[in-house]
Amino acid sequence: MEDRLFSPVGASCSRIEGWEKVSGTARFTDDIAVPGAWFGDVVRAPVCRGRLREIRFDPAFDWSRVTVVTARTLPGPNVVHMIRDDHPIVAAEEIRFLGEPVVLLAAPDRAILAAAMAAVHLDVEELPALLSLDEAQERLALSREHVLASYAFSGGDTASALAGSDLVVEGVYRTGHQEHMYLEPQGMIAFPGENGGVEVTGSLQCPYYVHGALTKALALPPERVVVRQAVTGGAFGGKEDYPSVLAVQAALLALASGKPVRMIFDRRTDIRVTTKRHPSLIFHRTGVRKDGTLLGAEIDIYLDGGAYVTLSPVVLSRCMLHACGAYRVPAATVRGWALETNTPPNGAFRGFGAPQSLFAMERQMDRIAAELGMSPLEIRRKNALRTKDTLPFGQVLEEEAGASLVLEKAVALSGYEALKAAPKFCRDERGRCVWRGVGLSLFLHGGGFTGSGEERIAGRVRLTADEEANVEIFVSSTEMGQGASTVLCQIVAQALALPLGKVRHVPPETGLVPDSGPTVASRTVFVVGRVLVDACRTMLRRLEAAAKEWFDTAGRKVYSKDGYFFAGEERLGDMATLLSRYVRESGGPLTAEATYTPPEGFFWDEATFSGDAYKSYSWGADVACVDVDATTLEIRPRKVTTVLEIGRAVNPVLAAGQAEGGTLQALGYAYLEDMGYGGGRFRNDRMATCLIPTAVDAPEFAVRFEELPTRHGPFGAKGLGELPMDGGAPALLAALEDALGVFCDEIPLSPAKLLEKLAARKKRNCAKESEGDGA
Ligand code: MOS
Repeated sequence: MEDRLFSPVGASCSRIEGWEKVSGTARFTDDIAVPGAWFGDVVRAPVCRGRLREIRFDPAFDWSRVTVVTARTLPGPNVVHMIRDDHPIVAAEEIRFLGEPVVLLAAPDRAILAAAMAAVHLDVEELPALLSLDEAQERLALSREHVLASYAFSGGDTASALAGSDLVVEGVYRTGHQEHMYLEPQGMIAFPGENGGVEVTGSLQCPYYVHGALTKALALPPERVVVRQAVTGGAFGGKEDYPSVLAVQAALLALASGKPVRMIFDRRTDIRVTTKRHPSLIFHRTGVRKDGTLLGAEIDIYLDGGAYVTLSPVVLSRCMLHACGAYRVPAATVRGWALETNTPPNGAFRGFGAPQSLFAMERQMDRIAAELGMSPLEIRRKNALRTKDTLPFGQVLEEEAGASLVLEKAVALSGYEALKAAPKFCRDERGRCVWRGVGLSLFLHGGGFTGSGEERIAGRVRLTADEEANVEIFVSSTEMGQGASTVLCQIVAQALALPLGKVRHVPPETGLVPDSGPTVASRTVFVVGRVLVDACRTMLRRLEAAAKEWFDTAGRKVYSKDGYFFAGEERLGDMATLLSRYVRESGGPLTAEATYTPPEGFFWDEATFSGDAYKSYSWGADVACVDVDATTLEIRPRKVTTVLEIGRAVNPVLAAGQAEGGTLQALGYAYLEDMGYGGGRFRNDRMATCLIPTAVDAPEFAVRFEELPTRHGPFGAKGLGELPMDGGAPALLAALEDALGVFCDEIPLSPAKLLEKLAARKKRNCAKESEGDGA
């Protein structure tokens, strides 16, 4: 088809690092043997809120064998740097969450370490704690003391729109904590470096975030801190923020002891103290016309930030910017607050706020449809965003909107309407009596950082080529199981028309790789991939210039195309040959760098929350089919059809993996993943009790990609990683509603909660009947 030497973009090549992982040779952090390394651990606060009166070190214990770090012995500020510097490394006086670090310990072996841990006694005065989002939201009326961040924006005259509506529909929606449950827990090994510096190797998403936290906490110049990513076994956002905490702890102990220090979390500690998805409480008031047209929306969003700011402001802003979903809302007012509570700080998790607000909006759309007697499909068809529509923060959708496209494809592919009309009570394949239902969701996700985030980061990349025309990619983007190494190599191989095997993604290490920004926000392919294409262009220009000197081009135009260099019509040679020659003649590798270039015509005002929030949007629609066991109320997702519009699928099989994995994670979020939160504690702190869907729970998936290429991404590709996390939960709840006839507005939705809902309905029906009897 294409007359190119090599064309790896769009090919489903297998994962470059896959063999290492399946054969067991990949070295995750805990697999790295470090002779003579000490073990580190943390003495943690026993209360959710309190005052630390005293730390007593048992005099009977031989403290000469261990290293101790407390707030009094820090070399720099007591701060884990993220957005706002409010997050202490160790509690000095005030304790704000259960499990907050107080004392860091390191010892040459685990037995001594355990004995030392037991020999530290914390004298703590317990204080009343704020332990639920509802309570924090109620307190907001009295004081703004617990506000970590708050924003508001408005598009149009919402009050008039609501006043002029045929119907105003109100809804309140709640979502719970969610644990990342990456297969590999958090882990970090710190090595004391030469001249007082430190080197850290660990499981992480963002080498330069960790680097920034270390230089600040240790008061070291940047060049004396090195951060290396080890092979990382899953992250989902959970290794965006927390690795900074763990790296600082390990590094402090390494510097204080003069020994390498390993800190590897067990599952229980990981679940208890690391960041979670922000719980949310969201209020909707929507004004509609009788025919289902949305006229205005008022949306108030409260996020539970936990004890410190961490990433809450940016999670909140993405949450708010996705609050109206994939719909045209002519007048909208969105207000948001991230509130402080006495739980471990909540942080980044795939979707970054959008799954919460999209859950609320999608459920609200179903509620409106029900009140108007419309079908969920009809109301979505009517209001789906179209090209050139304006979003509530003022962005005009200049590129083609994919909402209707994915909606119609998902409906057709799944046979939604037939499923909707099918009997709700039936027997499943195994003869069990079940309630059966089908639900729909429509969603969008902004790719890359919000607003002018990409401009601020100004991600940089570097490529080098050697004499054999092997190309190495130097970026800070990390492979964490999502396939970044493979797709970045595909993009570079495509841009240079080289075979995929000639391109390698260098394992990220600060100092060695430029700062391309963090591996978050569905930006790796979309943003970093694009900057890599720019670097490839620089490389091509350099080779064209060299070709002009090497060959007798007689004034003809020298250019490269599809892996060959030409002078006019004459083919001068292929990419590999010219690259090799260039390197040979210049006596060193050919290097090309590039920095993110802001596209023209984009504008964002942080102060008023207005303008172009994202450079491109990806679109999705899910149709979920569910069975509910009529006896036990066990919820069993049967089949999910997911249609995603992602510009260009660089690697369709890996993309489908993201689509299925993310959708399954979203289903788990909706019906299974109950962390047993209460009183500042996660009671379900093991994999045996904090359930996530396994292969056994996975429904049959039908995944389909639509491609509306964006001019902002490499070869048209948009963001993909987070999109599938947005649609699963509302689609599943809609399916449950279809099956059982009860409207559910809260996740996680356990069978116990479902039973409550059904019991409440029964009671209402009985009450109605007896009223009828009396009349
Ligand atoms: Mo993320 S949740 O942007 O790693």
